[in-house]
Amino acid sequence: MPEVKVGIIMGSDSDLPIMRKCAEALDHFGIGWEMVVSSAHRHPEKTARYARGAGEAGLKVIIAGAGGAAHLPGVIASMTLLPVIGVPIAIEPMGGVDSLYSIVQMPQGIPVATVTINGAYNAGLLAVQILALSDSDLHQKLNNYRQSLAARVEEKDSALREKIASEKSSTEGDQS
Ligand code: RP5
Repeated sequence: MPEVKVGIIMGSDSDLPIMRKCAEALDHFGIGWEMVVSSAHRHPEKTARYARGAGEAGLKVIIAGAGGAAHLPGVIASMTLLPVIGVPIAIEPMGGVDSLYSIVQMPQGIPVATVTINGAYNAGLLAVQILALSDSDLHQKLNNYRQSLAARVEEKDSALREKIASEKSSTEGDQS
């Protein structure tokens, strides 16, 4: 089992279907993680304990996801010097815009790196990029990952060009 370097914390177990994607990204790069439910509002003491102890526990990055009045990432960021990545979760009735604004609008002095609404996979990737600053193997894996993205674009481009060419030639056939 890899050493746990990333803490994934969420406001409720109802956030798990989205927050699981952080773990998928971290697993892809072989990074150890842990998952915790806590809440800035429903259990502030637990949240404070987790944030204050995270550095000593060996974590390097915290990813925090919450929906609605999503104060969890900001509150955690106020109690640790570890980088905190916030994931706004879409819930009814406002569809995540409420969470996005709650997380992204931090006051100067206490940053939270905020990803897009439900952008948990990117939160995981950003954590990997932070860890790669001091890990050359991880850096290489990220390079490979980026190359695989580019290769996929090339595949789609070739497939699209072939499809359009065959559509054109069948249209020309119909007209002759
Ligand atoms: C937030 O309230 C949680 O992060 C969750 O997105 C939302 C709803 O929580 P539950 O009522 O499903 O527990 O604090």
